[in-house]
Amino acid sequence: MSSYPAIRPRRSRATAWSRRLHAENVLTPADLIWPLFVTGRQGVEEPIASLPGVSRWSLDGIVARGREARDLGIPCIALFPNTPAHLRSEDGAEALNADNLMCRAIRALKDAVPEVGVLTDVALDPYTTHGHDGLVDAAGYVVNDATADLLVRQALVQAEAGADIVAPSDMMDGRIGMIRDALEDGGHANVQIMSYAAKYASAFYGPFRDAVGSRGLLKSDKKTYQMDPANAEEALREVALDLAEGADSVMVKPGLPYLDIVAMVKQRFEVPVFAYQVSGEYAMIEAAVAVGAGDRDALVLETLMAFKRAGCSGVLTYHAAHAARLLGA
Ligand code: PBG
Repeated sequence: MSSYPAIRPRRSRATAWSRRLHAENVLTPADLIWPLFVTGRQGVEEPIASLPGVSRWSLDGIVARGREARDLGIPCIALFPNTPAHLRSEDGAEALNADNLMCRAIRALKDAVPEVGVLTDVALDPYTTHGHDGLVDAAGYVVNDATADLLVRQALVQAEAGADIVAPSDMMDGRIGMIRDALEDGGHANVQIMSYAAKYASAFYGPFRDAVGSRGLLKSDKKTYQMDPANAEEALREVALDLAEGADSVMVKPGLPYLDIVAMVKQRFEVPVFAYQVSGEYAMIEAAVAVGAGDRDALVLETLMAFKRAGCSGVLTYHAAHAARLLGA
């Protein structure tokens, strides 16, 4: 008998057609959600230094990106406003203005490209002078219940403007159920909630805070509301709560460093799970490419496939358009 192996896993890998035949997961443009930053300035594209290749777009640019998403087969866009400084306040009241930048962007997109989904971030940080996601008391603590009341109103304003999915990213307790009730009562039964259920207090959000203009304003961290990176069991508890309160889908954030959480959530709950490959992860790939440490196309497709393998229904990624172009080619 030969001492060489008869069982050879390499057999199925020997040719391209066979590798395709044996692939356990596929990645398509339909798996992507494209986060976009909005500026109130007219007719400009503002590059973001810490997020090379990503810009803030004025409303006409946002609409152009919407058409691009449609043409590339990207089903959904996520919007984040860079609120002008003079409209920011302690209580983030601009978040409730039905004519704020976010609502104007939602309406512009839904008018021009109604077939692309619009997901909106529910949280106060792009509107506050302190950069926190909620109201801050005299001791500097982000208060839960009064913040949740405002988030409910913010979500309603976004739904009125035409948002298809509201995505609370604030990590206040109980807000999913409150938002669900308000949407039902307000005639928005078909507006979905994607909760940022397991959102960690992460060092990977830096470039995003530059993009929405909150980095310089934020004087402390968000550890009293976002989760400790040491915790996994707690993520399951957060997900269970948000599902019980009426979330249609849940998100894990950041992405790659938390694929264990994605896999656990998917296996435990059997619900649609999304991951956010956040700004710092994007910047890390671009930095690697810039020093010749790796090939952008390969890094992008490999990381996105890893999300699918872990169990994601889709991924929010700043590489969405680039990836869709690669996948469509
Ligand atoms: C804030 C929010 C953040 C992100 C999405 N929504 C930043 C934060 O929590 O400070 C981060 C996304 C990214 O880094 O790409 N509500």
